[in-house]
Amino acid sequence: FTIIQAKYLASAVRPDQYPAGDWQEISFIGRSNVGKSSLINSLCRHHGLARVSGTPGKTQTINFYVLTAKLADEKRLDFLLVDLPGYGYARTGQANRRQWSRFIEEYLLYSPRLRLICQLIDIRHHPMDSDIMVHQWLTENNLPVQIMATKADKLSRSQVKKQSTVIRDVFSQSNSNPIAYSSVQGTGRDELVDAIRKVLLK
Ligand code: GTP
Ligand code: MG
Repeated sequence: FTIIQAKYLASAVRPDQYPAGDWQEISFIGRSNVGKSSLINSLCRHHGLARVSGTPGKTQTINFYVLTAKLADEKRLDFLLVDLPGYGYARTGQANRRQWSRFIEEYLLYSPRLRLICQLIDIRHHPMDSDIMVHQWLTENNLPVQIMATKADKLSRSQVKKQSTVIRDVFSQSNSNPIAYSSVQGTGRDELVDAIRKVLLK
């Protein structure tokens, strides 16, 4: 299972703007600035595919990318990656946050072929209340979650281990062993590709 191509497909804020077709989907959710767009670029090995910024709140729409993977038998499989706007960004204010949750919830509950939601947590920090609330909501709605601990290059190897355990314990309800990831160094990419392969070929 090798990702051989990635292309931007569409952006949406409402269901009628979601791309048509019966694609399987993998989505990425997390606080603003946690590294969702960077992770998508590194997973696709395509820098500049998703817009990245040091300023939180960069991604404001639901962005769909089509990926093509080559399978062991030389067959090809197309599927979607979905980059979601970040949550918990203070400057956007209450009204905006409510709107955020409305259109993200709408997407998460609507999408019939959503196979996996990767929830990103900054490995340097203890998960925040918003992370825990979002996680609870996902598991209550029976959505399959994979925790990604991002920016692993910012910590030493022993700190990565320690923080991964903290994060695993906070999210123990989903039985998801966090994958430590670095978009800069490519750490965790093989593990994530494997998790994606498993859900798509199930
Ligand atoms: P929003 O779209 O605002 O929700 O943010 P996002 O989650 O998409 O984050 P984005 O990918 O735009 O990255 C935010 C900042 O973190 C950028 O300055 C990135 O360069 C940096 N960053 C992301 N991933 C990593 C990583 O693995 N390592 C390091 N060192 N920096 C990272
Ligand atoms: Mg983004």
